[in-house]
Amino acid sequence: MTRDLWTAVDGFIAEHLLSPDPVLDAVLVASAAAGLPPIAITPNQGKLLELLARIHRARSILELGTLGGYSTIWLARALPEDGRLVTLERDPHYAEVARANIANAGFSGIVELRVGPALETLPELHAEGAGPFDLIFIDADKQNYPGYLEWSLELSRVGTLIVGDNVVRAGAILDPDASDPGFGDGGVAAGVRRFYEMLAAEPRVSATAIQTVGAKGHDGFALALVTSNAGG
Ligand code: SAH
Ligand code: DHB
Ligand code: MG
Repeated sequence: MTRDLWTAVDGFIAEHLLSPDPVLDAVLVASAAAGLPPIAITPNQGKLLELLARIHRARSILELGTLGGYSTIWLARALPEDGRLVTLERDPHYAEVARANIANAGFSGIVELRVGPALETLPELHAEGAGPFDLIFIDADKQNYPGYLEWSLELSRVGTLIVGDNVVRAGAILDPDASDPGFGDGGVAAGVRRFYEMLAAEPRVSATAIQTVGAKGHDGFALALVTSNAGG
């Protein structure tokens, strides 16, 4: 009942404020047809990410967790023609689907997709001298959010905006021992809780988190602005 209402309101918002979007609709259809799980951000959340990137005048974006490229395309839309987006995905099949979706959306020229566990591809990016990125979207496996925050800071400058998805999980984060069936295993809430603790203790960032409800239930985004290089 409640979730139906949240979903209906999400529909109302999208109907009023989002343009018809055959490109992104096709991404979801192709992703479902290829067997990818339906866990991409919602259209309204995608528009929020696009607006954040535009407000920030981002020219370079790093994404952790590509899935079928749905959020990737929202973020890529915010970039100038000579912008750059690097997106990291562990699953080779998801990556193949994402590559086709990103090409169909016309963003192959500015999006670079790297396949492998992000805790392996992040150090490679760093060693290559990639970054600093203007905006970093963390949305891969939640257990590793602590490590992703560390690498994100390595790939940041003062002014980088770090956005983390799934930082509420219907309140599962309140329970240190909670397992989160939505992710298929335990340890998720613990990873996200540690992520909060690290943000709280990190002198280089100013952070908050915002709860969201909608078609994906009750969840939230964390926002962390890198405000200084102190200690890093
Ligand atoms: N950002 C996407 C959704 C990502 S879902 C969107 O909103 O459209 C989370 C993704 O993280 C999945 O595709 C999963 O395969 C990927 N993932 C899980 N563990 C990973 C890891 N260790 N390294 C990189 N990607 C990982
Ligand atoms: C789920 C949702 C997400 O946004 C995500 O990044 C991973 C998994 C889920 O609902 O299972
Ligand atoms: Mg997510």
